Amino acid sequence: MFATTLSYQNSAQTLTLPRDLFGAIDALKREMNAVILAHYYQDPDIQDVADYIGDSLGLSQQAAATEAEAIVFAGVHFMAETAKILNPNKLVLLPDLNAGCSLADSCPPAEFAQFKAAHPDHLVVSYINCSADIKAMSDIICTSSNAVKIINQIPDDQPIIFAPDRNLGRYVMEQTGRNLVLWQGSCMVHETFSEKKIVQLQINHPEAETLAHPECEPAVLRHANYIGSTTALLNYSLQSSSSMFIVATEPGIIHQMQKHAPHKQFIPAPPMNQCACNECPHMRLNTLEKLYLAMKHRVPEITLPEDIRIAALRPIQRMLEMS
Ligand code: 13P
Ligand code: SF4
Repeated sequence: MFATTLSYQNSAQTLTLPRDLFGAIDALKREMNAVILAHYYQDPDIQDVADYIGDSLGLSQQAAATEAEAIVFAGVHFMAETAKILNPNKLVLLPDLNAGCSLADSCPPAEFAQFKAAHPDHLVVSYINCSADIKAMSDIICTSSNAVKIINQIPDDQPIIFAPDRNLGRYVMEQTGRNLVLWQGSCMVHETFSEKKIVQLQINHPEAETLAHPECEPAVLRHANYIGSTTALLNYSLQSSSSMFIVATEPGIIHQMQKHAPHKQFIPAPPMNQCACNECPHMRLNTLEKLYLAMKHRVPEITLPEDIRIAALRPIQRMLEMS
């Protein structure tokens, strides 16, 4: 096989990479009996090499159902961790172990334990964007695509803590009419969109529909024609008769929108500053090169203590049953 040498990010070493990375990843996939699961916020190259691309719910359903021996998770840590919780005997690889999540980090376990103790009669519903420790303290996990459905299945008189995303929590309160006790966490990417610039785009393009993820702040959500998880936004954009969309979520999703509807136009919603901060810096730590190296060397592997895994599994299984 042809080889070329590249300097590998985060390493003092010079590593040899095959010239045809796509082909090499495909060969490793067969050799390892691995499945590559990717989130929509990954680089287009990673999306193109993946066996399955989806939102957090779809990815956990795939992880729960796969018969592959190894799962290569092109996403962030909490997603790969969820796959490991569901598959304790499988090798689960994350191309860059530093691919974290500001939302998951905004809910430290020790502080959350105190918060929970202060609301002893409350059921804990946690958004999947949290650590295994938080999942282990939760009764039910949800994602942006099933949060409303799950809250609606809980008896009206049952008080509920919703963690860690306050924006999704507020959106769910609006949709269900329920009063939730919210943990005040948020996503650094979805709170970066500028309401003013979105409204200006809407004025300039009155024919465009605005799509927004429920992790966005209420000031952005109130200008949206459609609100949903990444998969729901993608499906909506394909089914809608509109030919132009302003997309208020991480712009990685536009790769699939454009691929499935090349005749439509997708405008990424602009951030407040002149930066690329609408791109998730955690998701974007993964690269095709790191994905190849992770498969070749079978590291970095996701591991977690068995007692936490077992405690975290129960609320994930409840979610899968209720979805
Ligand atoms: P979904 O893909 O489930 O909508 O989640 C978006 C997100 O922020 C993942 O980190
Ligand atoms: Fe976390 Fe936000 Fe990045 Fe999703 S987009 S992984 S919620 S920081």
